[in-house]
Amino acid sequence: MGNPIEGYLGKRVDGTKSRMPAALDRWQSITGLILGLFIIGHMFFTSSILLGKEAMYKETKLFEGSLFLEEPEPWLVGLAAGIVFAIFIVHAALAMRKFPYRWREYKLLQTHSAHMGHTDTILWMVQAATGFGMFFLGSVHLWLMMTQPEKIGPYASADRIYTDNMGYLYAMLISLVILHAMVGLYRLSVKWGFTVRANPRAGRRRNKAIMWASIVFFSLLAYSALGTYWEIGKQHRDRYGERYVPQSQSTEVPAK
Ligand code: HEM
Repeated sequence: MGNPIEGYLGKRVDGTKSRMPAALDRWQSITGLILGLFIIGHMFFTSSILLGKEAMYKETKLFEGSLFLEEPEPWLVGLAAGIVFAIFIVHAALAMRKFPYRWREYKLLQTHSAHMGHTDTILWMVQAATGFGMFFLGSVHLWLMMTQPEKIGPYASADRIYTDNMGYLYAMLISLVILHAMVGLYRLSVKWGFTVRANPRAGRRRNKAIMWASIVFFSLLAYSALGTYWEIGKQHRDRYGERYVPQSQSTEVPAK
């Protein structure tokens, strides 16, 4: 049996070196960066519900192309979800190369990391674990967004979260995705060195502080939004399926 390290270093059987592992690593970073930035935007977009149902409704229509189309088209959102899903799958497939495959490898990694007490190694393990969980929970969500993009809106989303029980899945997914994305962006900043080059030690410490602050900020934002959707869904449970009517089309007299 050959030395497994050779495989990781990209040595071919004839002893020459392959550029493949470096290229795959670069693609893992690029897809991770795209998804990390997407998630930051996504957390702000879904939190529009904190500004009210009308704000979330208008934003949904904006993503369906209301600015440049006569009739908003939900399939545009479905298409975007399909593209994100494809990037998500490629990213996960590339990341899987680095997972410890056997129990022995995992135990070795755990012992090393405990011995070293090196936070960045522990952060790598956090990323591997959260990534594993996200692969299942994130896929369920992305599939729904891709196949039912017309069911997004203040009442449709709230009904899904409360009556269809997706709220429980989101409650788990929020922590996984925020930890994974913020730790991932921090690790990229260190790996590519663009923000830590001048003074590595101080730069690393500063970026780590930004990472923790972002984890707290996005968790508060996302769980507040989830709580709001939940509350709307609960109040709307007897009218499940009924869609939100914007103020401009509503004949109801607004409550004083
Ligand atoms: C283009 C792709 C995506 C679209 C259109 C989308 C859309 C949405 C929408 C409309 C909601 C509100 C709840 C609902 O209607 O069910 C939501 C919530 C959520 N999404 Fe996405 N999403 C996308 C990608 C992702 C990805 C890649 C992840 C992470 C793997 C993710 C994680 C979450 C989480 C954790 C929530 C709950 C957030 C909260 O309550 O604040 N989404 N998403």
